[in-house]
Amino acid sequence: MNIAIFASGAGSNANKIIEHFSNHQLVHVKLVACNKPGAGVIDIAASYGIPVLMIEKEKFFRGNAYVEELKEAGIDFVVLAGFLWKVPSALINAYANKIVNIHPALLPKYGGKGMYGNFVHAAVIAAKEKESGITIHVVDELYDHGSVIFQATCPVLPQDTPETLAQRIHALEHQHYPAVIEQFLLQQL
Ligand code: GRF
Repeated sequence: MNIAIFASGAGSNANKIIEHFSNHQLVHVKLVACNKPGAGVIDIAASYGIPVLMIEKEKFFRGNAYVEELKEAGIDFVVLAGFLWKVPSALINAYANKIVNIHPALLPKYGGKGMYGNFVHAAVIAAKEKESGITIHVVDELYDHGSVIFQATCPVLPQDTPETLAQRIHALEHQHYPAVIEQFLLQQL
């Protein structure tokens, strides 16, 4: 099974996923797709010799959504790891139930458009939540909406800032995302 990771940020989750599958017998990270020139994830992909597909807005939303390119590369499964654009229906239909995302909060709370990165953590702290966490879910046509595959929680501490909470959440993501992807993929074989 060949995975494409879609990421536009630092790429720390992408890095963990690439490492996790680097010697895997059945699952290979074949491609990294990125919409942000200069993003950290590009160097990470390069350091593992993984090709990077740069995604352009016009073609993604009003063209073929890169479905042909993904099919040509033999991609079976798409993992979103810090990819902020909404996935167009053309791509969702081509990979039905084969696209997953990770969200840095306990959905259905704190999801939707504009709820990313420290905006999520600031909202969680402002609401005085005692607990936050991560959600790994199947991607459908609505932001942060598809069926939930996995959640894990962590405390929100009284002295937390969005930055300290982000660090705790990132650690949780790194701990779980690669293994949850592996389990989900192997179930489909
Ligand atoms: C993660 O916190 C993830 O939950 C969100 O985007 C962030 C990506 O971080 N969807 P990184 O680029 O993997 O470091």
